[in-house]
Amino acid sequence: MSELKVHEVSKLFQATTRAGGLTPALRKVSFELRQGEVISLIGESGSGKTTIGKVILRLVRPSSGTVTYDGKDITRYSARGLRDYYRHVQGVFQDPFSSYNPIYHADRVFDLLRDVYFARLSDAAWNDKIDAALHAVALNPSDVLGKYPHELSGGQQQRLLIARALLLDVRVLVADEIISMLDASTRVDVLNLLVKLKQEGLAILFITHDLSLGNYVSDRTIILRHGAIAEIGPTEMIFGNPQHDYTKMLLSAVPELHKKWRHTALGPVALPGDDGAVSGNGSAAVIPVAVPSNPNGRGATAPVPVIPLEPPVLHEFEPGHLVAEPE
Ligand SMILES: Nc1ncnc2c1ncn2[C@@H]1O[C@H](COP(=O)(O)OP(=O)(O)O)[C@@H](O)[C@H]1O
Ligand SMILES: [Mg+2]
Repeated sequence: MSELKVHEVSKLFQATTRAGGLTPALRKVSFELRQGEVISLIGESGSGKTTIGKVILRLVRPSSGTVTYDGKDITRYSARGLRDYYRHVQGVFQDPFSSYNPIYHADRVFDLLRDVYFARLSDAAWNDKIDAALHAVALNPSDVLGKYPHELSGGQQQRLLIARALLLDVRVLVADEIISMLDASTRVDVLNLLVKLKQEGLAILFITHDLSLGNYVSDRTIILRHGAIAEIGPTEMIFGNPQHDYTKMLLSAVPELHKKWRHTALGPVALPGDDGAVSGNGSAAVIPVAVPSNPNGRGATAPVPVIPLEPPVLHEFEPGHLVAEPE
């Protein structure tokens, strides 16, 4: 049985703010995604969700920790191993339009795969394969083939990208905010499509900032806060019996979910000696760590709140339901 295992993955980025330092985008995140399982990864903007997706897709290299697929460390693949990995593990991202080149027909995204994976397939077999993939995502070939991206709706664009993943022998799909850009009716269609694919054995990491969407599709839920797991467990436990204050706060905001979240909802991390000030540009939880400031330079005055690289300890509240200590 194939399994994707994320083990103590940390990622530090050079902060883009004037305060400098390092942004701990991920702090020792561990979980495994089993065959046919849907995990919702939920957290506010800047909590590290996309970074996890990118680490899994090998678009970002972790600072420490490992990702293994079927027991193999994905950072150690040969070119051929990587090609096989991408046969099984694919991503679809938030803004479907950006995945297309506007000067080519949208279905060119299929042709690019053909060169790498199906170079020896006959035209007839290839066309059959595309028809089957489009059928699987409930797209009518004549509605989408030979069209330019701008001639397709957001839902059609998104489904075409899912179809592209399905051309391969995909077993794990990283779906990063793929519903966010869609209108309400299309959302339900794409969600139902994901449920159907799950029933056929696809594992999905469903990344969202929208709790209600997560609740709808997933078996398990991970609540991410400042790059660390705040709470993880079966979705019905997380939603029905949340334990972490942060999860409760998110759930209490659910009626307002369709408004854009304001970052002020998330307070600074209280630490001994912290004067309560939060650095950064206010658009994301950019929290410098271990600030190596120049004592003579600017920015050496006020102490900067520091988020420890070490994530809060997780305790098992009930079987399979882990809750982080307050931070
Ligand atoms: N390439 C990068 N360089 C510097 N900082 C980054 C980069 N990518 C992400 N970050 C930072 O890492 C943190 C997590 O980002 P991200 O994973 O995109 O969060 P989310 O998807 O939850 O909104 C944020 O503070 C973000 O600013
Ligand atoms: Mg993101």
